[in-house]
Amino acid sequence: MENHLVFFIFLALIPAFETSDFLITQFRNIKKRSAHDVIVNGIEIYSMKIDSKVTSRFAHNVITSRIVNRANVSKEVFFDVELPKTAFITNFSMTIDGVTYPGHIKEKEVAKKQYETAVSRGQTAGLVKASGRKTEKFTVSVNIAAASKVTFELIYEELLKRSFGKYEMLIKVKPKQLVNNFEIQVNIFEPHGISELEAQGTFITNDLSQVVKKSFSGKKGHVSFKPTIDQQRTCANCSSSLLDGDFTIKYDVKRDHPGDLQIVNGYFVHFFAPTNLPYFPKNVVFVIDISGSMSGIGIQQTKEALLKILEDIKEDDYFNFILFSSDVYIWKDRLVKATDDNLKEAKNFVQGMHTKDMTNIHSGLMKGIEMLNTAYETNSVPQRSASIIIMLTDGHPNVGVSDPQQIQMNVKKAIQGRYPLYNLGFGYGLDYSFLEKMALENKGLARRIYPDSDSAIQMEGFYDEVSNPLLKEVELSYPENAISDLTQNNFKHYYDGTEIVVAGRITDNDLNSLTADVKAQGAKNDMTFTEQADVEETAKALQEQEYIFGDYIERLWAYLTIQQLLDKRTVAQGEERENLTAEALKLSLKYNFVTPLTSMVVTKPEDNEDKAAVADKPIEAEARSAPGTQAFPTHSYLYSHPAVPSLYTSVDGDPHFIISVPQKEDAICFNINEETGAVLNLINDPVTGIRVSGQLIGDKRVSSDAKIQNTYFGKLGIENKQMELKLEVTPEKITLQTGREKTVFTWLDTVTLRQEGITVIINRKQNLVLSMGDGASFVIVLHQVWKKHPLHQDFLGLYTLDSHKLSERTHGLLGQFFHHIDFSILEVHPGSDPKKPDATMIVKNNKLTVTRGWQKDYSKDPEHGTDIPCWFVHNNGEGLIDGVHTDYIVSNIFDPVIN
Ligand SMILES: *[C@@H]1O[C@H](CO)[C@@H](O)[C@H](O)[C@H]1NC(C)=O
Ligand SMILES: *[C@@H]1O[C@H](CO)[C@@H](O)[C@H](O)[C@H]1NC(C)=O
Ligand SMILES: *[C@@H]1O[C@H](CO)[C@@H](O)[C@H](O)[C@H]1NC(C)=O
Ligand SMILES: *[C@@H]1O[C@H](CO)[C@@H](O)[C@H](O)[C@H]1NC(C)=O
Repeated sequence: MENHLVFFIFLALIPAFETSDFLITQFRNIKKRSAHDVIVNGIEIYSMKIDSKVTSRFAHNVITSRIVNRANVSKEVFFDVELPKTAFITNFSMTIDGVTYPGHIKEKEVAKKQYETAVSRGQTAGLVKASGRKTEKFTVSVNIAAASKVTFELIYEELLKRSFGKYEMLIKVKPKQLVNNFEIQVNIFEPHGISELEAQGTFITNDLSQVVKKSFSGKKGHVSFKPTIDQQRTCANCSSSLLDGDFTIKYDVKRDHPGDLQIVNGYFVHFFAPTNLPYFPKNVVFVIDISGSMSGIGIQQTKEALLKILEDIKEDDYFNFILFSSDVYIWKDRLVKATDDNLKEAKNFVQGMHTKDMTNIHSGLMKGIEMLNTAYETNSVPQRSASIIIMLTDGHPNVGVSDPQQIQMNVKKAIQGRYPLYNLGFGYGLDYSFLEKMALENKGLARRIYPDSDSAIQMEGFYDEVSNPLLKEVELSYPENAISDLTQNNFKHYYDGTEIVVAGRITDNDLNSLTADVKAQGAKNDMTFTEQADVEETAKALQEQEYIFGDYIERLWAYLTIQQLLDKRTVAQGEERENLTAEALKLSLKYNFVTPLTSMVVTKPEDNEDKAAVADKPIEAEARSAPGTQAFPTHSYLYSHPAVPSLYTSVDGDPHFIISVPQKEDAICFNINEETGAVLNLINDPVTGIRVSGQLIGDKRVSSDAKIQNTYFGKLGIENKQMELKLEVTPEKITLQTGREKTVFTWLDTVTLRQEGITVIINRKQNLVLSMGDGASFVIVLHQVWKKHPLHQDFLGLYTLDSHKLSERTHGLLGQFFHHIDFSILEVHPGSDPKKPDATMIVKNNKLTVTRGWQKDYSKDPEHGTDIPCWFVHNNGEGLIDGVHTDYIVSNIFDPVIN
């Protein structure tokens, strides 16, 4: 089934970090204030309002936040909203001291250029995108002068989907401080009448429950929530806010007809959701991945979900389990009826599932399809039954037929449109776009299962959505000569509690009424439904409602059309894909939607210069972050990392390498002197595909009295071929490329990005932490020198927090020391510097003269560094490093072979 019809807003305002608490006492000169504790770090949220208008399931939402800087210095304020993935942003604007800075929707590439120009001019990027399970985050920050005001306004639109018999909006509110005027207002208008309306909040205490007002009558419904400042407090004298959780609104409409046909301003929409139909027996084939990577939480949660699903399976249903790892294991050689005995046996089978080997998706799926085909051919399942295939995997196909395109082709050919294929992707270690393409091609859909303690509930929830088919082969038709631009009008299944929506344009200007015919296969017989709508009547019904926007059906049609074009585009190739892209882009621009093809650019004043910000729409296949991501961590990751050893293998400064030798509680160090511009390979692991290189820069001018020109790292590049990740860092900017998606940050940003096993944390002006799954994490430290320094310029250092995921074959100037390295020291004797004794070191079967010294480690104290005592190896590490240092010079910061 389609995604949940959940609607999720997260609001937070986070004052800048450099502000401090004592500023609260400084506002005696500002007159009218309701309570002193609505001001946090000088920032007061004067009002925050969420205003939703829903007309025939189409929701138009406006979030407005007014903020005052009560401090006597300028402050950076953030507007941070989480909205449903299924929504499109349509407008954003900021009004600062009476001047409005609007957002403009542009083609993505155009927007990106503007953004990059702004970044290259040293201006900070305003918006950070990230997504949770069902949401994506919109963040913008702005610096406002002392005693200034800013109003943020965000508008987004969404077609609410019906599931489990209700349209649901989930509004999660988290203002993080007390708000003078906080308000949620939801107005619903449904031409056929509202049958039920609920509103509840997870954070709503008994005291607060009377603040939630809801009412409905006839066609209108209303929900409001407007707590006073005192009602927002977590306790009588507390200044913390209890507004932190989910606010849920659910409603349904009256259903005296199976359908609801509406025509307004030249567009029509048809909602189709018949009830009281007999149950359609179904055949379910579960194709379950039991490869090694599923061990642990994956298989545990899968078992739990399947056991629960077996409890709910209906006795007229047929089912079977196909398990795949390197090989395929079937429970029964054919689909079996859900009798008590079979269910009991199935439970034992599920309980006994265990993981092993590799991931043979192809064989698993093909076996499942073959089993369904045979079942129909041999009449071993009822001819009138609905079949579905549910496949669950957590990995890439890596054995048997492992080419995704080949698998797609074979699966499509075998299914021939007969059964929808639903692909559940567990976690992030998989190729989601492959699963999505394959599902869409076979009239199903893909869903990500987030690895967590509730993974089983997520799987069960999905099953519940598709476990009650009521109709098959549903085809909706309209008089061809009167309409055009129809959205999808045939559907494999209609599931209980959902709704089918079709929209289109009316081409006949003189049309008085429209008739819709629906044909479908029911459990007992074939069925037809007819619906008719009178143009004038709909218009009249809407006129009474002052808050209805007249073009809502046109926008609903555009929304649906764009979504369906994007789905088709996911599967299409070549010219067809280009055409679909062009069409979806045209509509996105025309109707002002931020879709995966467009971006919103906001221009705003910042230090008397224009500053660009970009709002993009993240795509599930390139999921940006795990749930719970905090865009603005209040503490530095580096200092709170639980497993940080006290000393890291690193390279920093001019460049000096420090090799940690934990078992000796000691270190070896060496310098590399090479020419400015040279690129050195630091880490190269052919197995994990992780590669790190750095390019040298020199001082601003060559110091005449130095024999050797000082060099530093002016650019570092980290790539992970398996994750298709490239991170390029300079003292000016940070460029993150995952797949084809490129994002640019500056060192003025504080950002946390999480996606598919990658975490990037930028700590403003200090450092960047990159973690690639467990066991590979690095910190890049920014060294900023005084801007007008006559000689030095900004440079970078690299620290390895954790390298145990890297293979034995890892090499490079740093990487070769990630494996066991040992040395012994003999004959310590006075050297040329009385404070630094010399010694003989035996290392890698070489006998070297080394000097006791210190090197700076800046990972803990970026400003002054910490002195690390170490044995210094002379002559560019000769005898310590494999080969000579020039062997490590490479031509490119990233591996040219894959670029
Ligand atoms: C802000 O106010 C505080 C306290 O009144 C004062 O000490 C400080 O100098 C002021 N700062 C500016 C920039 O005016
Ligand atoms: C977006 O909002 C701004 C500010 O309210 C307004 O001026 C502008 O016209 C809006 N843009 C669109 C396309 O509606
Ligand atoms: C709340 O604060 C006031 C003033 O500081 C104090 O007098 C009162 O006892 C406090 N009440 C509670 C319930 O703590
Ligand atoms: C793409 O669009 C062009 C121009 O409208 C058309 O001629 C062509 O047939 C289309 N190609 C496909 C594959 O749809």
